[in-house]
Amino acid sequence: MPIIAPSLLTSDFLQLANVADMLNKSEADWFHLDVMDGSFVPNISFGLPVIERIRTATTKTLDVHLMIVEPGKYAEDFKKAGADILTVHAEVCPNLHRNIQQIKELGMKASVAINPHTPVSALENVIQDIDMVCVMSVNPGFGGQKFIPHTIDKIRALKHLIKERGLSVLIEIDGGVTLDNAAAILHTGADVLVAGNTVFKSADPIATIAKLKSL
Ligand code: DX5
Ligand code: ZN
Repeated sequence: MPIIAPSLLTSDFLQLANVADMLNKSEADWFHLDVMDGSFVPNISFGLPVIERIRTATTKTLDVHLMIVEPGKYAEDFKKAGADILTVHAEVCPNLHRNIQQIKELGMKASVAINPHTPVSALENVIQDIDMVCVMSVNPGFGGQKFIPHTIDKIRALKHLIKERGLSVLIEIDGGVTLDNAAAILHTGADVLVAGNTVFKSADPIATIAKLKSL
């Protein structure tokens, strides 16, 4: 069964306590939390204080996706705020291996995200050191964008790399996941589906999460 990680970016921030309650009651596995700095991506979302508060509202895994430059500066703060999984972008980490070591030493699962233009081969020398790859299926920065079809080829290549090395690294797909394309994404080899608009703009988020989970 897939791991379902609703992205709270599209939720109503005035209702965060209710959003957490709803997700706690649902079959969602993780809370996907998108942190944006207005520098790496052209948008600013939320940061440490919000995550700290969400931490008090759930025992589910907090999957924190950092879309920020110099993520190493803040890794310890995100651990303290309650992150279980910390994702950094390969594109902003000239010393990516060091970032991964730091995240693991802090006691979090380490995940690396790659943008649509970044090839899977960029991960060849770190794949054995990480717990998850977050494959961006849209350009990061906003919810509600359209899934980039080429992502399917990247999932296939990544799955091949992971199998070839005998590893158990998770593949997370982030951006434009819908009830229409989720089955194909999973069939190609993804383990984790992030879904923002598909969950939070639906009339019945709990039922939508259940549908994704049953794929
Ligand atoms: C985009 C974020 C995503 C976003 C997904 O930069 O990383 O997590 O919230 O939203 P949807 O599912 O609406 O594309
Ligand atoms: Zn994300």
